[in-house]
Amino acid sequence: MKNFRGYAFVKSLLLVASVGFNGWALSQTTDGGTPVPALALSWEADIKPIVIDTCGGCHNAADASGGVILETQDQVVKLKSSIITVLNEGRMPLGDPGFGSSEEGKKFLEWLSAQPDPVSYYDSTIKPIITANCLKCHTRTKAKGGYAFDTQAQVEAARRIIASEVSRGSMPQGNRNFKNSPEAKLLLNWIKALETSPGS
Ligand code: HEC
Ligand code: HEC
Repeated sequence: MKNFRGYAFVKSLLLVASVGFNGWALSQTTDGGTPVPALALSWEADIKPIVIDTCGGCHNAADASGGVILETQDQVVKLKSSIITVLNEGRMPLGDPGFGSSEEGKKFLEWLSAQPDPVSYYDSTIKPIITANCLKCHTRTKAKGGYAFDTQAQVEAARRIIASEVSRGSMPQGNRNFKNSPEAKLLLNWIKALETSPGS
């Protein structure tokens, strides 16, 4: 028992030392900007193999399950918040709810969290429109017509049917004037831009 306590004490000293070291390392910056972790994980060497292995079977250019392609760093970082959500909730990879807490899953989450938040027109402009006009009836727990629009990936995946419903005035249900509003115009223009921009 004595030995065990001694061991625990040494261990806690080591823990304090390593936390102290991390704190020091995190305060160093490359260009006076964002702090960089001491042992930065790299996309190419550490993360890409995990993503291709674990997600690539369903989220490649040919299959694009749920409208999501996860092959490049850009594609992954763009969906940072959706991916963090589905990993933490154990919803992805489909059929493997333990992945988020596995060694590799934790590595992926650590790397993702350190990525800059994508500057997103969706978050600043489109998401508030969806929230105000659609979420009352279209969330994961209350998906009228089978559609949930909690995340950008869901909205992007359903963009064609959204454009068609909104432009003919059938959605939001019970508000036939929405189609003439500035918000509807922003939403429809955003969808049109997704359709015409290369690589989407
Ligand atoms: C066996 C197939 C399969 C695998 C493997 C898989 N996915 Fe998916 N994924 C799907 C399907 C199907 C959907 C669309 C339906 C859904 O949302 O459940 C989806 C949807 C998603 C979405 C959008 C969900 C939302 O709520 O917007 C994200 C993000 C995602 N997957 C991330 C991942 C990540 C990250 C991995 C790897 C760790 C992964 N997926 C592995 C099949 C898969
Ligand atoms: C008051 C509730 C309500 C609101 C608000 C609402 N919807 Fe719906 N939505 C429904 C119901 C109910 C259905 C399923 C029955 C139907 O298709 O009319 C549906 C179905 C849909 C469908 C599938 C249509 C199809 O033919 O399968 C889409 C796409 C859709 N909604 C998009 C939207 C969008 C985009 C918004 C916001 C701009 C929105 N909805 C706001 C209730 C709502």
